[in-house]
Amino acid sequence: MSGAPIGLFDSGVGGLSIWRQVVHALPSEPLLYVADQAHVPYGHRSAAEIQAHSQAIADYLVAEGCKAIVVACNTASAVALEPLRQRFPQLPILGLEPAVKPAVQLTRSGVVGVMATPATFQGQLYRATVGRYATAVQVVEQVCVGLAELVEQGELEGPDCDARLMGYLKPMLAAGADTIVLGCTHYPFVIESIRRLVGPSMAVVDPAPAVARHLADVLAREGLLAPAERGPLEPASRYRFATTASPSDFNRALSRLVGVSSSSQALIWQQRPDQSPVLHPA
Ligand code: DGL
Repeated sequence: MSGAPIGLFDSGVGGLSIWRQVVHALPSEPLLYVADQAHVPYGHRSAAEIQAHSQAIADYLVAEGCKAIVVACNTASAVALEPLRQRFPQLPILGLEPAVKPAVQLTRSGVVGVMATPATFQGQLYRATVGRYATAVQVVEQVCVGLAELVEQGELEGPDCDARLMGYLKPMLAAGADTIVLGCTHYPFVIESIRRLVGPSMAVVDPAPAVARHLADVLAREGLLAPAERGPLEPASRYRFATTASPSDFNRALSRLVGVSSSSQALIWQQRPDQSPVLHPA
């Protein structure tokens, strides 16, 4: 079991911001990443839809023998984390919540901005996090409609991207925020543009390194770390990728976003007679 892969999934390429930190923190672990690009973006979908897609992907990852799952998507975590944990109680399943706690520790102005999707802000997880950690600060919630799509399209810089980002950043700047939380796993891929636009006095919090460290702790605690004598694996045997849309588009994004050249597998979304969605390798 300890030699089994860790499964990660997102609505698209955003979870690769978590994936690259897991690669860094856990160099001996094989990883299986699924991008649900047939259904990206998740951010404006209903909770029931996001739960159905997340469950189908988790079923696939479990069928592939994954020893743990990282829901590398704030939106899916917001609505599907608890149902997934109930479905697979024996499996460590980690999710993402906007990094409000570290932001509250960092802020000096007492105003924290959070960038996320509509579904993340509507979820119980976000409300509970704010209620627990942010009672003494002002939280400015910025719904970033269209930003995950921009990252999916590879538009990570340039005047149009800057103009779009400024539209999201302005209300937080106007409110006096000195700390901004990236509450969607797509957003770290535009962190350099955000930093340039807001200037050096603003702290921009990317939770990905902390998530990877937490995963390492959980695997160690559960006795699930890959055997140490195995050493770092060759990339080809270590990294597997699948997308529910176009493998060639995903491969291009892989090399653009994380500098990895690999061939991803196609997963075709099908309906069984009982209508529940399942994923099949093409
Ligand atoms: N990457 C996802 C997240 O962390 C969501 C983007 C989307 O599909 O709307 O929230």
